[in-house]
Amino acid sequence: MSVTPIILDCDPGHDDAMAIILAGYSPKIKLLGISTVSGNGAIEKVTENALRICTLAKINVPIAQGSGVSLLGAAEAATDIHGETALDGADLPAPAFALQKMSGVELIGKLVRESTEKVTLVATGPLTNIALFLKLYPELVTNVEQIVFMGGSASRGNRTPYAEFNIWMDPEATDVVLKSGLPLTMCGLDVTHQALVTKEVFGELEAMGTELSKKIIGLMKFFAKTYDEVFEMPDPPLHDPVAVAFLIDPTVVTCKFVNVEVELKGEFTRGATVVDLFDRGGGKRNCTVALNLDAPKFWKMMLDAVRAAGAAS
Ligand code: RIB
Ligand code: CA
Repeated sequence: MSVTPIILDCDPGHDDAMAIILAGYSPKIKLLGISTVSGNGAIEKVTENALRICTLAKINVPIAQGSGVSLLGAAEAATDIHGETALDGADLPAPAFALQKMSGVELIGKLVRESTEKVTLVATGPLTNIALFLKLYPELVTNVEQIVFMGGSASRGNRTPYAEFNIWMDPEATDVVLKSGLPLTMCGLDVTHQALVTKEVFGELEAMGTELSKKIIGLMKFFAKTYDEVFEMPDPPLHDPVAVAFLIDPTVVTCKFVNVEVELKGEFTRGATVVDLFDRGGGKRNCTVALNLDAPKFWKMMLDAVRAAGAAS
């Protein structure tokens, strides 16, 4: 069985937390390390959350704090969805280990440099750290297999009518990634809105009966409450683990290789991903876009990882 070495750049965040567990417990993923980026919450909060989730799930990998602002210096927290801590809904254990004494981008550079096989970068938050890595370590790009990111949309947005949150937070960083020339896979809202935390999923979590699954139920109940309040979606979409699931089994999604650009100037559309599904704009195809999800296959992966984490912690 081939195992994919990855670095996960994230802004935990309820769905990022589940992406960490999936990456940490899938036998087909080797999680080399985690870098954090501000998005769902301030950088200090999302970094503390990464430490706490890894402590809860006994995932012992290097974690480093990344950028607290976008390339242009902007920051905003999605407290309306993720709460004041950026991971409300459960009491999580205090971190059992310390942060790395380097920045998130430095950790990405270190792990890519030291890896004897090409590393896949998985981003489930704004792409700031990924863009900084590409610019600061051009000599290491040849040791990057591909970039898989949760973000964007071929249709509507969720932070603005046409911009998805991760991309909206740092459009310039997204542009660096889209122009990198590396193999790219985008898991946008089109596919992640099919990964719904339904009552059947809650039933499976409840049946596990582990301390970990009980904490996850609390987190998911909070996430469901805020998603219903803000988006009238009682079953919240678990966005970020879809990017990891794609690496575990690419047949979990169906994709199309198309041209994707990011709007940097639009008065009402800045941060929108312009996904040219039918080659109408003449742009070079540069990104594999996931459009449909095999939800049962996704949830089997996700729940198997929670079960394994519950047994180990
Ligand atoms: O738009 C959804 C994305 O924004 C997810 O990654 C969520 O965690 C937030 O970062
Ligand atoms: Ca995220």
